[in-house]
Amino acid sequence: MGKVRYLGSKTRLVDQITEKVGKPSDGRFIDLFCGTGSIALASGLQGWKVSANDTLKAATTLTSAKLISASDVHFQSFGGYYSIIKKLNALTPHKGYFYSEYSGSAENKEGKARPYFSLSNAQKIDSIRAEIRNLYQENKITANERTLLIADLIESSNEVASIAGTYGCFLKDLSSNALKPIVLKARPLQKRTIDWHVSQGDALNAKVEKIDTVYIDPPYTKRQYAAYYHIPETLANDDEPLVSGITGLRPWKSKASDFCYKAKAPIAIENLIKSLPSRKILISYSSAGHISFQTLVEIASKYGDTDVSTFENFGKYISSKKSSINAKSDPLTEYLIEINR
Ligand SMILES: C[S@@+](CC[C@H](N)C(=O)[O-])C[C@H]1O[C@@H](n2cnc3c(N)ncnc32)[C@H](O)[C@@H]1O
Repeated sequence: MGKVRYLGSKTRLVDQITEKVGKPSDGRFIDLFCGTGSIALASGLQGWKVSANDTLKAATTLTSAKLISASDVHFQSFGGYYSIIKKLNALTPHKGYFYSEYSGSAENKEGKARPYFSLSNAQKIDSIRAEIRNLYQENKITANERTLLIADLIESSNEVASIAGTYGCFLKDLSSNALKPIVLKARPLQKRTIDWHVSQGDALNAKVEKIDTVYIDPPYTKRQYAAYYHIPETLANDDEPLVSGITGLRPWKSKASDFCYKAKAPIAIENLIKSLPSRKILISYSSAGHISFQTLVEIASKYGDTDVSTFENFGKYISSKKSSINAKSDPLTEYLIEINR
């Protein structure tokens, strides 16, 4: 299954982070910045009841698809998941929004070629999203089934996107993967049923109780996810926004994150920690981030007892309670601050 290369994804730190999350308790595990859902899923598989949240619909869609289990989706009208995937792959391509805006066709208002996808793959994406929309409108698939298929489309289109990792821009020439035909793939569904709930919005507005364990993994650089993942966001929203300019960005400023601004980030994290009623909070951050290690530990210490774990080179565990991290001399270090009230 083609994974979306997601900035700041914690897939390489899943084991280390879930160890710190600990055993399931009465409360829920709440991943407030869920991204691709790697930590939400791992916690769910440990037996936690899971809530996940993100400002981006693309993120909540990818996360929901990870948490959905085989018992959540039956595709009854089609004889199962594999049959519907086969049907979607066999659709006749048609020229729609993706063909106009995100291929080399230049058949849009500004006459701009934006070759994120080959001409034929863009048309295939158009026909698949139109069919998913029709099936949902005609009540032939459920909301979970629709979410799963859209996540599959986000992931399979990512495999044939002519980009260098993110959707910030397309490559000058179509990459070799972009020349291959898009193939929608069925993923292995979770056998274990997870008690899950996913919400879209600012972390500050998510529902959190005292007994919950909260995981905070905010952006730490200036790169705004809403801009860097604008095409997955359009697939997830199933809309056709007015786009313009070289890269065809959808309007994204309303989703700009305070964590991406150096001056705002420390205030944003403190306001969030302060607002949370939960007894245990875990914060992931990087030595390459806007907020320095010292500042973040200082902020965290105001709200409870803290414990720090650091991981060098994204995964190699170095030590617990490392007292200082120097972003200039130390190699890139990811760390996890635990706050217990
Ligand atoms: C570092 S990524 C999370 C990565 C995730 N843990 C994973 O493993 O894929 C940060 C996420 O925070 C989201 N985000 C940014 N500002 C937010 C806010 N104020 N509230 C909720 N989510 C936000 C971004 O859309 C992005 O998905």
